[in-house]
Amino acid sequence: MLDIQKIRADFPILKREVNGKPLIYFDNAATSQTPQVVIDAIVDYYSTYNANIHRGVHTLSQEATDAYEVARKKVQEHFNAKNDYEIILTAGTTHAVNIVATGFTSFLSEDDEIIVSAMEHHSNIVPWQMLCERTGAQLKVIPMTEQGVLKMDVYESLLSDKTKLVFVNHVSNALGTVNPVEFIIEKAHKVGAAVLIDGAQATPHIKPDVQALDVDFYVASAHKLCGPTGVGLLYGKEEWLNKLPPYQGGGDMIDQVTFEKTTYAGLPFKFEAGTPNICGGIAFGVALDYMNSIGFDAIANYEKELLDYATERLKEIEGLRIYGEADEKTAVISFNVGNIHPYDIGTIVDKLGVAVRTGHHCAQPIMDFYKIPGTVRASFAFYNTKEEIDVLVEAVKRAVMMLS
Ligand code: ALA
Repeated sequence: MLDIQKIRADFPILKREVNGKPLIYFDNAATSQTPQVVIDAIVDYYSTYNANIHRGVHTLSQEATDAYEVARKKVQEHFNAKNDYEIILTAGTTHAVNIVATGFTSFLSEDDEIIVSAMEHHSNIVPWQMLCERTGAQLKVIPMTEQGVLKMDVYESLLSDKTKLVFVNHVSNALGTVNPVEFIIEKAHKVGAAVLIDGAQATPHIKPDVQALDVDFYVASAHKLCGPTGVGLLYGKEEWLNKLPPYQGGGDMIDQVTFEKTTYAGLPFKFEAGTPNICGGIAFGVALDYMNSIGFDAIANYEKELLDYATERLKEIEGLRIYGEADEKTAVISFNVGNIHPYDIGTIVDKLGVAVRTGHHCAQPIMDFYKIPGTVRASFAFYNTKEEIDVLVEAVKRAVMMLS
């Protein structure tokens, strides 16, 4: 059992008011809130040992380097990567996806195919379209059902020896569907394709084990995991990271530089050109410690309770339709009420202190599938409560009354 009131006290922002009402933060799928321990780590870094890393012999630089590399180890342990150098610290999920998509340019030709799913975020569609434009490779799409579940029989029929890469999100940001990534990876490997899983929406709820998954690449962002923005990870199997060319050239990613020829540093530095988000990386490690101190099983159980309660309560509202009704889903509810524009509902509930996301959620193909302009999305975290859900339901009822 989680002590929710104790947990809430860890998040200073939850004490604030919005429009004269207590803040109810249900936009966790966009970004999670930050506990005091992570804020303290950021303040401590800038107050006591702010310095560039991997570059100086002076004490501050050594302290910052040590702290950054400790954070990389924490990320390695959290995701159960075999080696710490298989963890590339990036600016976030999008950056990590682009490292792989750009790196595959020299591996693909016009006879090759890449498979993505119908429920991807734009960051999981556009880099692959750009890769196809560069190489002539074809993009294939795994379709989904009305419930928001990927059609695995069609996926299997799309796989062939032409398939070079499969890319699927672990959890859909717009629908909350948990995809069967174990099955997807196993089938892709049978035809010799590599698999990249986007864990941006899964990692706040599920602790992935990249070795057990046998996944080739796994990406995620710290800011959905109680960490700061501007930092994330690319996990890659050592053999893949060795094969991929560097994404950016610059300092720290080199071995030797002359005007005739440059040789690159080994892993992970080959992919970490320039001064990274040092403070962000360190704070990411602290955020993972914080999340693990609560425990991912406890988080998942409690969030399931919130999801079930919110689903039941929201269904009381006449004309409300939920998009994304997979059996396996995280605590995300995307909905519309009748023909009311989601933006109008979002604006009114904000006046009552409730933060939800409205729009296409960077997943326009999903909205096209359902023939809607967007949805209202309420996404819950382990610091939310059933009482807050009651306020959301009353706020939506009020919005519907005003707008009908
Ligand atoms: N991808 C984030 C979301 O779903 C920003 O809101």
